[in-house]
Amino acid sequence: MTEVLPVNAAAIEKAVALLRAGGIVALPTETVYGLAADATNGLAVAKVFAAKARPSFNPLICHVASFDMARMLGDFDPVSEQLARHFWPGPLTLVVPVRQPSLVHPLVTAGLATLALRMPRGIAREIITLLGHPLAAPSANSSGRISATSAKAVTEDLGDAVPLVLDGGACVVGLESTIVKVDGGKVWLLRPGGIAAEEIEAAAGMKLLRAGPQGTVEAPGMLASHYAPDPPLRLNAQDVQKGEALLAFGSRRAKGASAAVKMLNLSAAGDLNEAASNLFSHMSALDRCGAAMIAVEPVPVHGLGEAINDRLSRAAAPRGQ
Ligand code: TXA
Ligand code: MG
Repeated sequence: MTEVLPVNAAAIEKAVALLRAGGIVALPTETVYGLAADATNGLAVAKVFAAKARPSFNPLICHVASFDMARMLGDFDPVSEQLARHFWPGPLTLVVPVRQPSLVHPLVTAGLATLALRMPRGIAREIITLLGHPLAAPSANSSGRISATSAKAVTEDLGDAVPLVLDGGACVVGLESTIVKVDGGKVWLLRPGGIAAEEIEAAAGMKLLRAGPQGTVEAPGMLASHYAPDPPLRLNAQDVQKGEALLAFGSRRAKGASAAVKMLNLSAAGDLNEAASNLFSHMSALDRCGAAMIAVEPVPVHGLGEAINDRLSRAAAPRGQ
């Protein structure tokens, strides 16, 4: 059952406790309702993908309460900092390089080296302050549906997939944030949104660039190379061959697993949410282990398994495309 609570001190306290325990909460921001999880907790973030039934792991926006918090998570060039100071809190999302070592779980960035950061207004920001951690939050709608701008729209769309919805009334902006990325001193508009391009141009003192039809700026999640480890991947492996590492799943082992250069299990219990939260970190650990090839045991395609298989097949796709 989904609990819908009007925003007050008790409801906020309940939301913070749930988030601290690794749960997910739908909450209002000034743009649209977000489906939030502690961005440092991979299992919690996996629950967001499961509730939205996202067919692939698109990277999520990470919400912060202060510029200091943002600076702990991402590296700000002078133009990005100028835009953050001008528009935050507000509907502007800035894509910046992830600050290493990353405090945010790799499932949030979908393994990318960049992170989308935003400081929301109002209640969402208050909750982040109380939690003391950033919140990963996509719009609170199921994949492919329009963004929810009221608590009722959230419950109608996501139903029982969300245990708690904070009802803060209709969203003031009602449109997702504008996403920009500064690259080589130039500002790229990645998604038009709640702040007009002209306003950003005025604040940055330069014209915004837009990705051409060829996608001059990477379409997040679409470039296989972002996810591809160095050694090639062999999917649905029933055995492990000489010189191979093994990315395992569940309790049944592929033949010859004990001879693997290195083995990591996405989830010994066969839990797809746990597997999702381990996917990017395990892939990068096996990437660095010196194996010639990574054998990957079959992962079921239901639930988050669809997104896991999507990512695995992108990583296994022929190179050089
Ligand atoms: O207003 C908003 O932005 C709302 C509220 C909840 O904050 N959030 C939102 O999230 O619209 P979502 O997940 O529906 O859209 C996030 C977009 C996706 O298109 C994703 O590809 C892009 O942000 N994104 C996330 N990380 C990125 C990155 N590192 N580089 C480029 N794009 C990124
Ligand atoms: Mg969305």
